[in-house]
Amino acid sequence: MIRWPFVTSFIILCCVTCIYTQQCEQSVDLARFDCHPDDGASQERCEARKCCWRLPIQHTNSTEKHRKSFQDISVPLCYFPSDFPAYSIVSNEPTSFGKRVRIVKSQTTFMPNDILDLTVDLLYETQQRFRIRIYDTFNKRFEVPLDVPVVEKKADMIDYEVKLAQKPFAILVTRKSTGVTLFDSSLSPLIFADQFIHISTRLSSPLLYGLGEHTQPLLINITNEWKRLTFWTRDIGVRPDTNLYGVHPFHINLELNKTGQTSFHGQFMLNANAMDMNLQPLPALTYITIGGIVDLYVFTGPTVQNVIQQYWDVIGKPLFPPYWTLGFHLCRWGYGTIENLTEVMQRMHDADFPVDIQWTDIDTMYAHLDFTYDNKTFHGLPELVRKIKAEGRHYMNIIDPGISSTQPPGTYPPYDEGLAQGIFITKYNSTEPIVGEVWPGPTVFPDFTNPKTVEWWTKFLAAYHEIIPVDGMWIDMNEPSNFVDGSHEGCTSNSLDNPPYTPHVYGGNITAKTVCTSAQQYLSSHYNLHSMYGYFEAKATNIALRTILKKRPFVLSRSTFAGSGHYTTHWSGDNAATYQDLYQSIPTILNHNIFGMTFAGAEICGFNDETTEDLCTKWMQLGAFYPFMRNHNEIGIKAQDPAVFSWEAQQIMKQALLMRYSLLPYWYTLFFKASSISTTVIEPLFFEYPNDENTYNIDRQFLVGPALLVSPNLLQNSTTVHAYVPQDVWYEFPSGIQINKVGQYVDFETPIQKINVHVRGGFIIPMQIPGPNLVYGRTNPLEFLVALSQSGSASGSLFWDDGDSMDTIETKSYSYFEFNVTTSNTLTIYALLTKYRDLPIVLGGVKVLGVHKSVTNVNVNGKSYPNFAYNANDNILFIYGVNLNLLDDKMTQTIEWSASA
Ligand code: NOJ
Repeated sequence: MIRWPFVTSFIILCCVTCIYTQQCEQSVDLARFDCHPDDGASQERCEARKCCWRLPIQHTNSTEKHRKSFQDISVPLCYFPSDFPAYSIVSNEPTSFGKRVRIVKSQTTFMPNDILDLTVDLLYETQQRFRIRIYDTFNKRFEVPLDVPVVEKKADMIDYEVKLAQKPFAILVTRKSTGVTLFDSSLSPLIFADQFIHISTRLSSPLLYGLGEHTQPLLINITNEWKRLTFWTRDIGVRPDTNLYGVHPFHINLELNKTGQTSFHGQFMLNANAMDMNLQPLPALTYITIGGIVDLYVFTGPTVQNVIQQYWDVIGKPLFPPYWTLGFHLCRWGYGTIENLTEVMQRMHDADFPVDIQWTDIDTMYAHLDFTYDNKTFHGLPELVRKIKAEGRHYMNIIDPGISSTQPPGTYPPYDEGLAQGIFITKYNSTEPIVGEVWPGPTVFPDFTNPKTVEWWTKFLAAYHEIIPVDGMWIDMNEPSNFVDGSHEGCTSNSLDNPPYTPHVYGGNITAKTVCTSAQQYLSSHYNLHSMYGYFEAKATNIALRTILKKRPFVLSRSTFAGSGHYTTHWSGDNAATYQDLYQSIPTILNHNIFGMTFAGAEICGFNDETTEDLCTKWMQLGAFYPFMRNHNEIGIKAQDPAVFSWEAQQIMKQALLMRYSLLPYWYTLFFKASSISTTVIEPLFFEYPNDENTYNIDRQFLVGPALLVSPNLLQNSTTVHAYVPQDVWYEFPSGIQINKVGQYVDFETPIQKINVHVRGGFIIPMQIPGPNLVYGRTNPLEFLVALSQSGSASGSLFWDDGDSMDTIETKSYSYFEFNVTTSNTLTIYALLTKYRDLPIVLGGVKVLGVHKSVTNVNVNGKSYPNFAYNANDNILFIYGVNLNLLDDKMTQTIEWSASA
């Protein structure tokens, strides 16, 4: 006979198991959301979190595969049950901006300090921009100090639909026109604890772009992959699978819809705390951040360019670089002495290379102290810099944020005055500066969130500029980097230095090789502001340079945050002299364009390790098409300036530079457009061909603007480039010969002296004959390269100003032309604005590609013009010596050709 107590406990046990089974039911592994994202998951720990612990359903080797890398994750064994404590709506009120919803829950979760009462603001900011803010109802929390638009009134028309689920609380945002999901938080529990915020969203496809700064291919394809990306600024040489120098929690998601027409939307998580993003093939994305609030933007696009424009409307448009910065930059760490520096400059000069911008590194400083130069090893530097400038060239130098704290009192004013003014980051609960270690030894760190620091910085930069008249500032080591973990005295044991959850940052903890996160800054703790250190330094430097130079500032920053592009440009940091890094530079620079840093580059020929002639030649060729073209390498290795290579290699490099310089009017116009109407400067191919799925993962080729296709040789032992040519009209550059294989991959014969560049039909490229340097070259005549489309039309534009005045765009002190060719064989030039008149703008000649009928007559402004030639083999028309003054009072000028049959 069975005894009752046994039966009862058996039934209870069965029920518990069956409820547990039910709550843990998941039809597919991909739908599991990790309940133990921290390392060291075990069944015991998992169940203590009231989560499900099970082997994957499709138990294959791949689920328990070795991690390819640290950031490689897989199906979690510990995952959330469907009845995990959840918030539910208690009130939902309409407001002027949209809706205010209050959500509560009664049970806490496994993270300490759960916040049980939250407010959710739904802001219908514009027709294409929706914002979700989830924050503590009662206590103010840290919010990212970025100047984002404040919208108080709900948009009248919106392209998205928003629905709320009552319990568990969830938000669903869809595209009105197609119903595609743009945001859906119903997949896993919202957890909002003081130092652990977890929110997931369904993705509309596994194809993503953005999410930087990481060393990764352009396309983040999670069709079959689980992936974790960590966000926390860190000084670490370029490598895959780690958080790097910058933080840009923005992605673009490709929507594959049934119509065959591709749309895009974007999401920006405005959060500066250390963060993991877990991506899984469901497809879904989970944000796990350890502070702040949920402040999430959804941009509906629908084109990829629209998404970027909508993102830049929030973070600020890219800085407009001075014209001279488009030239060739040469640098190295370790010139060591002024003699070596002048020797390099001389050999570059003798070899006939334009070096528009000469840079130096920390070795010019006296004992690595900011705002100094070493009057022994670099004796005469001020005079040399003045000479460089007198020749119409420019000079840049480096500055690091770490200020030496061990100089004898009274000998180093930047420290003494900074200390007196209290502008350094302080230790936790103290007014004493926190001391770390950088190049000069023990250092303190200016707190750029403090307005007093901006004044202090400006003062010392101005004093430095009096001695060494730099043309801009290179701000390095601003993650901020620290050679010791935390500080010389270590860090506290509190939860700011030891949070209950640590995202998967390089070095294992958030104080690794930076200052203690418990340290205090003017606006908040370093815990909250760490990843914005470079952002605030760039902003301060931009402000300081405007004051000092009274010219358009040029700042180059290693560490960046969303919005930095408004104040600074960026290079990708310490890469290596490898073919892998040669390739990697392309997706990295493309990504920075997306992040609003249109002026971006990578160290040409490689920073670490010794380069080779083949690699450096190919890199100079590719680098000629980077927005920012700098050759720089580390101390202690061989020189890699172009003049050290063989005569043959030098000619090839020179050719690349000439190509770049001849295209600068086109580049400059692209930068103008980026800063005024938010278009990108270099683009992946899918930006222009969004419905051609062959283009989605192309990142070994790119476009400069919409019209120049660059397909570089990135391989060591190859003279063939296997490159995709989209379905369109393409002409080889500079020959102008039309290519006939389009809409397919083509093997381009690419001997070392060749760069594969193609011009797209339908565009007019303004070009200029290069001079010995940019200042002199700017007075040379222009040429228009007209690449006709299939239907015989083309268009283009030209922006021209003095090149470095402040705010020329805002004050409209520039000239701007648009030109087009219609099917009637007439190039019409419209002078839309002619406010910049200090330099002549003369159109010397026109080259028209794709003229299929022999030309017998050319008219310039209605008068017959004799100087032209027609190449019937290649269908090219040359019109030379026209010398049209584009600033002529005539608003419209024409060049017309007639073709006999
Ligand atoms: C690190 C920078 O990334 C590198 O470019 C520079 O040369 C060194 N610091 C020395 O300043």
